Amino acid sequence: MSRHSGGHANEALLRDLRLAVWRHKEPEGEFMVLSQIRQTLDHAGVAYDGCRLYRVQADPGACKMRVHPLTSNGHWSPLTAGQQWVLGAWKSAATCYRAPSRHGECAWLAQQMRCRVKAILETTFDQGVLAVYRKEAIACSDADIGLFKGLGEVLCGLYYRQEDLAQLRRAQTLPGTGLAGKTNQHLAAIIGATNRLRPPAAGTGVQACSIAHVRPQKTRKEQVNFTRLVQETVGRMRRALLQDQIEIVAALAPDLPYVKAHAGQLQQVLLNLIQNSHDAIKQVRGTGRIELRLSTRQGCIVLEVEDNGPGIAKEIRADIFAPFFTTKASSQHSGLGLSICTGIACDHHGRLFVEDCAQGACVVLELPINPPAALALLRYVQARRA
Ligand SMILES: Nc1ncnc2c1ncn2[C@@H]1O[C@H](COP(=O)(O)OP(=O)(O)OP(=O)(O)O)[C@@H](O)[C@H]1O
Ligand SMILES: [Mg+2]
Repeated sequence: MSRHSGGHANEALLRDLRLAVWRHKEPEGEFMVLSQIRQTLDHAGVAYDGCRLYRVQADPGACKMRVHPLTSNGHWSPLTAGQQWVLGAWKSAATCYRAPSRHGECAWLAQQMRCRVKAILETTFDQGVLAVYRKEAIACSDADIGLFKGLGEVLCGLYYRQEDLAQLRRAQTLPGTGLAGKTNQHLAAIIGATNRLRPPAAGTGVQACSIAHVRPQKTRKEQVNFTRLVQETVGRMRRALLQDQIEIVAALAPDLPYVKAHAGQLQQVLLNLIQNSHDAIKQVRGTGRIELRLSTRQGCIVLEVEDNGPGIAKEIRADIFAPFFTTKASSQHSGLGLSICTGIACDHHGRLFVEDCAQGACVVLELPINPPAALALLRYVQARRA
């Protein structure tokens, strides 16, 4: 599909985009990045006759979708027809080059694009779908697919960052003194520490979502594909961990259900747990391994983060979830990481705990797939015990 682009040239273009996301400080900075995405497609030589960005906010009952043409004068409009095809693509969580094959999709696209679409290159990300459409079904290169995967990551990072910036802005109205102010300073330290893991070129990601725990405000929960969140987080951190000779692997059970959650907060838990494993391994070894496992158990989605560091001594296992508990000497560590993660787990009606493992430490996040049913069961058990 591209005229002259290659993998290396595309990497450079993606790096610029990631930096643009990383640098923008305004929650409203979205449009600048969107127009840069369009320019990237042109610079990479991707041939297309039409281009659309869809934002998906899916709930079991209702599904809101918006569409943007990515032109400089374009704007978001509600997607009134064709939602089922976009949702189908989004649920597939894939990047692919395909012909519009689903029943009715051809007619809908002809209406949208005002031409007969023969080929689609699309990528999905946590918050939506990016697609380009072509009148001719000419071959698509691996470089194009790679570029599209990268663009999906960039968009995902952009929207998490927007969310974080908006939260940060709300948190800035907190008084600068007292516990809230102090806690914010500590949070800045954690965020800084978590950021140490992030490679500068891949600087698209979660930042400061822990603020939500400090200031208990209801954040919007959506149906989250936890598998995709873990894949993305691992993919984003792999390179930085490898620089410290630490391998990170993910074992993901197939067909896991979506969970109603705040994706940004779940990613914050992931980042904090991986950061703790990273710190632990570095204390005792030159090389190491972190394994993330995602599965279901008794109505819950279970995420296990296991490392081959020194492990967590039995005597302190009850203390590590308390605020300000730390065994780390550096002033960069406030000891708030696990207490914030516990707050996030509770806010999702789940729990965080340490599990025995053969070597090192294993920290587990358990989230009920159906929180109302889990709460009803808990109340029943408590009532029986009383
Ligand atoms: N994977 C692990 N291996 C060994 N010890 C761990 C691990 N995870 C947590 N701990 C212990 O739990 C303590 C508390 O962790 P927590 O994340 O709350 O704070 P921290 O990492 O010390 O500081 P911060 O999160 O602010 O950087 C750590 O200081 C460490 O002693
Ligand atoms: Mg920590």
